Amino acid sequence: MPKRKSGLNKKPIGIFDSGLGGLTVFKEIRRLLPGEDLIYFGDTARVPYGTKSPETIKKFAVEIADYFRELKVKAVVVACNTVSSLALEEVKKHCGVPVIGVIKPGAIEAASGCVKGKIAVIGTQATISSKSYEKELKSINPSFKIISKPCPLFVPLVEEGWAGKKVSYDVAKEYLSEIKKEAPEALILGCTHYPMLLKEISAVLPGVKIINSAQSVAKFLLDELSLLGCIEKNGKGKDFFYVSDAPEKFSRLACNLLGIRTGKVFLKRF
Ligand code: DGL
Repeated sequence: MPKRKSGLNKKPIGIFDSGLGGLTVFKEIRRLLPGEDLIYFGDTARVPYGTKSPETIKKFAVEIADYFRELKVKAVVVACNTVSSLALEEVKKHCGVPVIGVIKPGAIEAASGCVKGKIAVIGTQATISSKSYEKELKSINPSFKIISKPCPLFVPLVEEGWAGKKVSYDVAKEYLSEIKKEAPEALILGCTHYPMLLKEISAVLPGVKIINSAQSVAKFLLDELSLLGCIEKNGKGKDFFYVSDAPEKFSRLACNLLGIRTGKVFLKRF
């Protein structure tokens, strides 16, 4: 582990996802909290999570939570809808520090300003089956009508670096045709990989408000750290990237898809 700053506020923030998707959240956190050291972990050896069973997802999430505990992070952001839907409580138990998931911020953002009350949600099979967004949205307003659709091919398309290619437009058209007929007011991108397919999704659903919760998640984290009085306001924070496989590919795609220059990406296997 490269050298970091020392002192309480100077402890890093841990952010994780099954792969690249959580970088959409990382980017917003970096923008909002420039002084913080950030450690990103992408479980690239085991992506996708969204097609796996709840038991397996919980097992992976707990291993990562324990790792972040070892690294002595001051907060953890679960930048993965699948883990936030199925294993948030397990992560909280194992981390021993504040944990921010992505479901609540996304649901609150979608609900605010929603007049007709028809909201669509897309995500991995595991996220959609868990009904996590449906429960969160209904707890805000029980009269909301929710239309849900799993889009399992979206994650491999992104991880393959195929965002923007014709095949991604074709897959988006196929998955989103039923949602289009329903004419929802808003569509929640219930997977952190999906913002990288924003052009494809918007092309099929013109006029639908697309909710990418990355900014709201970063704001939730900022508020939590402010409450605890442990925001690092001085200096420029450092970024550390870890993956469980293929660090060069991760680094290349992070740059190509999100303009993030990772520098050296370290390998962490479980
Ligand atoms: N990016 C993740 C999510 O938000 C996981 C996708 C996957 O691994 O299937 O759900």
